[in-house]
Amino acid sequence: MNPFSLDGKTVLVTGASSGIGRGIAISCAEMGAKVILNGRNRERLEETLSQMSGAGHLIMPCDLSKQEDLEALADALPELHGWVNSAGIPKVCPIKHFNREEVEEIFNVNITSTMLLLSMLVKKKKLKRGSSVVLISAVTGAFVGSKGDTSYCATKGAVNGFMKGAALELAPQGIRINSINPGLVPTNILNLANDIAGEEHHTEIMLDKYPLKRLGTPEDIAHGAIYLLSDASSWVTGTNLVIDGGYLLN
Ligand SMILES: NC(=O)c1ccc[n+]([C@@H]2O[C@H](COP(=O)([O-])OP(=O)(O)OC[C@H]3O[C@@H](n4cnc5c(N)ncnc54)[C@H](OP(=O)(O)O)[C@@H]3O)[C@@H](O)[C@H]2O)c1
Repeated sequence: MNPFSLDGKTVLVTGASSGIGRGIAISCAEMGAKVILNGRNRERLEETLSQMSGAGHLIMPCDLSKQEDLEALADALPELHGWVNSAGIPKVCPIKHFNREEVEEIFNVNITSTMLLLSMLVKKKKLKRGSSVVLISAVTGAFVGSKGDTSYCATKGAVNGFMKGAALELAPQGIRINSINPGLVPTNILNLANDIAGEEHHTEIMLDKYPLKRLGTPEDIAHGAIYLLSDASSWVTGTNLVIDGGYLLN
């Protein structure tokens, strides 16, 4: 028996249309899971699906920042053995330029939707006893600061705080919840951040800060997610799994 196998498990991956979430969906399928793919863009979800092995995967697009979409998703989902939340957006904005609408937007996508969807899944008994929830957080905000994207930092700190409380509250129901805190993984989110900041403010400068001398890949993060979804981690809850090429050592 392979304790890391996801055979027979049904796993929801939110943020599956791109980057880390796409890598997680593909890797979960390789490990035997039936995957439910969520994001807003159906075409990009189809692209993810086309790269997946196995059968029985489903596409359920919706905008997680909209209450009616969340409720429809929670109703439509089958019983789950796991959920990986990889949906998230960046926000580059100096503190003096904050406005309520933009602060609410990033909180809505990066943490509020996670809290509300978890609540719905628990209420509707969609998470089976023994299930595992994995929240993709970040080292930024959860462990280190970063100027210029402090609202993003705030949401990732909130993800880790919520995860700790939820792990305690849901343990009696046999539901585990952990976070993964990635370092820099070149994906679309960095292009978005660079577009907003109007400069290449990440990749070149950052590589120097990674002791293992490379940036991350979606697969690096997916392998951590597989561990946390699988029975190999059945005694692990409330943990921050840092996957960062040694970045936090500096
Ligand atoms: N890349 C990094 O260096 C890095 C480092 C640390 C943490 N992270 C975290 O990792 C997660 C994934 O990031 P990524 O790098 O893979 O970024 P990405 O390639 O931009 O992917 C973001 C995903 O979030 C989905 N999404 C955004 N808003 C949504 C909404 N309102 N409703 C539903 N889905 C939504 C997008 O799907 P649609 O566009 O189809 O809606 C997309 O699938 C994020 O939480 C990010 O903060 C990334």
